[in-house]
Amino acid sequence: MRQILMIMAAMLLTCCSKESDVKAQPAQGTDDMGKTLVVYYSYTGNCKDIVTELTKQITADVLEIEPAEKGLKYEANNYALGTQLLNAIKANPDDADSYPAIDPVNVSLDGYKNVIIVTPLWWSQMAAIMQTYLFNNKMQMAGKTVAMIVSSYSSGISGVVNDANRLIPDVTWAGDALWINNSNRSNSSALIEKWLPTQNFQTSGNLEQKLYLTIGGVTKTATLVNNTSTEALVEQLKNGDITYEAHDYGNFEKVGPLGYTFPQNNEQINTVPGDLILYQGSNLCIYYDTNSWNFTRIGKLDNMTQADIKTWVNAGGGNVTVTLSIKDPTTKVSTAKADVGENVTYTLQGTLAQAGTKGFVIENGKKIFR
Ligand SMILES: Cc1cc2nc3c(=O)[nH]c(=O)nc-3n(C[C@H](O)[C@H](O)[C@H](O)COP(=O)(O)O)c2cc1C
Repeated sequence: MRQILMIMAAMLLTCCSKESDVKAQPAQGTDDMGKTLVVYYSYTGNCKDIVTELTKQITADVLEIEPAEKGLKYEANNYALGTQLLNAIKANPDDADSYPAIDPVNVSLDGYKNVIIVTPLWWSQMAAIMQTYLFNNKMQMAGKTVAMIVSSYSSGISGVVNDANRLIPDVTWAGDALWINNSNRSNSSALIEKWLPTQNFQTSGNLEQKLYLTIGGVTKTATLVNNTSTEALVEQLKNGDITYEAHDYGNFEKVGPLGYTFPQNNEQINTVPGDLILYQGSNLCIYYDTNSWNFTRIGKLDNMTQADIKTWVNAGGGNVTVTLSIKDPTTKVSTAKADVGENVTYTLQGTLAQAGTKGFVIENGKKIFR
């Protein structure tokens, strides 16, 4: 009787084979990871728990891979089955028929920048079911940034890493795989939290790039637009700040040569105060009044009134020295500190603080309140 019940249960499970689908997780956290897919297989539930922890910490869609054949064959801890499936793959790893069938996966990887694989280890290799998914999706995975979490009882994961490299050779690895085993499993939340920042995931690309402009010791921020001109400018600034001399022009701008030539994305622009404009690819204009010309938009000063801008750039007055940076000068102060000795205190704008200055200041490289 018991045997009949088990067979019926097996038949029920088999007939309920379904298409694997993406389950969207609610947005969690504030990371800037680009669209991410977590793909997992779990035989006895450990990887499923890992995915639950992972998706508490990142925003990602989740795709569970399931064997096409269910029921008794895949009863938990059927170790003999694992050996059999892995041996078939080992015998002929380039043949699709060597891989165990999985439920059809109706999920395109288009649009996902990052894929995180969460897989069990079987006999020091990647679980056969996950191998099928990667084998079938080698082309779709190419070019993705991929990270991996491997769950084993105690065995090291180098064999699983080798399998991943064989199955999806054309991906960019985000970093080292995370190994969760029986002795650290209860700590998986903390392990994942520590591991995530070590991974070089692709970002959403929506981050607002800030430009720091300093004139007369006063630093203001601007938000850059997204074009090939700003990309090139930011690339140049990664090598170091740009300092240039700017003169007044036309009663509407402070302009000067950057010493570099950047790509132009010229268009007819009616400027407003605060606009940052690239003129002829090599001059930066800080606008404090209106103008209309065919040139390249770079960005806009953040939260400054026209009066603020005019004072800051010495509108209508003599030349000013402008320093452009992509680093927050408060950080830079901490590195510069070593050059000028101990006990030097700066304002958050990067100027020397007067003795007795109250509020937030930078002291010995640290932001403190006094
Ligand atoms: C077929 C099979 C083979 C396994 N081989 C190993 C092994 O060689 N070394 C090891 O440490 N754990 C081994 N395990 C244990 C699993 O890797 C471990 O329990 C893992 O956490 C299971 O993940 P899951 O619960 O998501 O399926 C094996 C498990 C199965 C089912």
